[in-house]
Amino acid sequence: MPKITFHHSGDQITIVEAEKGQSLLQIALDHDIPMEHACGGNGFCTTCMCDVKKGMDQLSPRNDREENMGIMEDPKRLSCQSIVEGDQDIEIEVMEY
Ligand code: FES
Repeated sequence: MPKITFHHSGDQITIVEAEKGQSLLQIALDHDIPMEHACGGNGFCTTCMCDVKKGMDQLSPRNDREENMGIMEDPKRLSCQSIVEGDQDIEIEVMEY
């Protein structure tokens, strides 16, 4: 199972194990890691945006919803549209608002 390291809430770090097929947003919420998700995880806002510091190639490719919201370049991704597909570890930084 891949490990996901979340940097969040200033200087906090939370490391969790994830099932493949889950979005980064779902994994964060399942572990009480604060992550905004104003549109409910449907790819229509950008409040769940994160920086992928490691393991971009372990996630599903950027999709149309992300491109429609202008999330076009690494390391930015929408957490709700980024699905864990690989077995290697991933590290992300949650946006603070
Ligand atoms: S929760 Fe709105 S784009 Fe991800």
